[in-house]
Amino acid sequence: MKQVAAEVISVEQILPGLKRPAARSIAGSWLIRLSCPEIAREARPGQFVMVRCGGELTLPRPFSIHQISGDGIALFFAVWEDGRGTNWLRQKKTGEAVEIFGPLGNGFSIQPSSKNLLLVAGGTGVAPLRFLGQEALGKGCSVTLLLGAATAAQLYPERLLPSLIKLVTATVDGTAGRKGMVTELMPDFAAQADQVFACGPMPMYRDMAAQKRKLRLIGKPVQISLEMRMGCGLGVCYGCTVKTRNGLKQVCKDGPVFELDDILWEELPKS
Ligand SMILES: Cc1cc2nc3c(=O)[nH]c(=O)nc-3n(C[C@H](O)[C@H](O)[C@H](O)COP(=O)(O)OP(=O)(O)OC[C@H]3O[C@@H](n4cnc5c(N)ncnc54)[C@H](O)[C@@H]3O)c2cc1C
Ligand code: FES
Repeated sequence: MKQVAAEVISVEQILPGLKRPAARSIAGSWLIRLSCPEIAREARPGQFVMVRCGGELTLPRPFSIHQISGDGIALFFAVWEDGRGTNWLRQKKTGEAVEIFGPLGNGFSIQPSSKNLLLVAGGTGVAPLRFLGQEALGKGCSVTLLLGAATAAQLYPERLLPSLIKLVTATVDGTAGRKGMVTELMPDFAAQADQVFACGPMPMYRDMAAQKRKLRLIGKPVQISLEMRMGCGLGVCYGCTVKTRNGLKQVCKDGPVFELDDILWEELPKS
């Protein structure tokens, strides 16, 4: 784990805002590229960094490593309309420094025998999966990404994905791809996959855990990346503890990647 003042290479808005009367609204999604060779060298897909948004006075915020290119890493993040940290981060300018530490967490693991990987992303959940897809293609795997969003404008742009990834989309309002939730695409693709990797909101995981037969996940190794509120990111504050079949685990240290079946979903907060 390294702690560095990473220089901002670029900050770009990728997706527009999304008003959600029944949930926290999003002011848009951004991509920030940071120069930090020490972290870029060590990082594995599924790991994250803690960003000191606004200095020492606020708790650092966790963000998945979205991409590695040369000495740099990229983070893809949703800015919450009322989010102090994410609003601070999106306002950074090229050449400024951002204090970060990482890489943290366990990361995804691709079994040596796996050839066909299925990646399932709900909204911003594409963040860690892009890096995983890039790595898997490099190992010669075939990669299919199921990408879901509320509406067409909220879909992560295909031009930012490695060209060899096979992309299939779903939108809740039917403005692009199949109409419905991204999990509804799974029955058509899960059977051919050697491994499934997912990142998305809690209801998506609950759905996957509850409907394994319908989604054709029975007997499939499924890894998910869990997002919990984090205080330290270092296993010190116990703020990210979850109940699993193997006892209490800290998401920052033992995760954020877990087997779908290991988590006791009924013990977790609803959203
Ligand atoms: C391992 C991990 C990886 C993540 N990767 C990404 C990513 O790649 N892209 C992305 O957009 N978001 C990611 N998140 C969620 C992101 O950390 C929060 O959206 C962000 O911290 C909100 O900060 P804020 O100050 O704008 O919001 P605030 O609500 O003002 O934050 C207040 C506090 O709540 C915590 N918090 C609020 N919402 C969440 C949440 N959903 N998950 C975890 N902590 C939360 C913050 O860490 C902070 O301590 C990740 C979370 C985890 C745990
Ligand atoms: S965030 Fe402090 S122990 Fe995990």
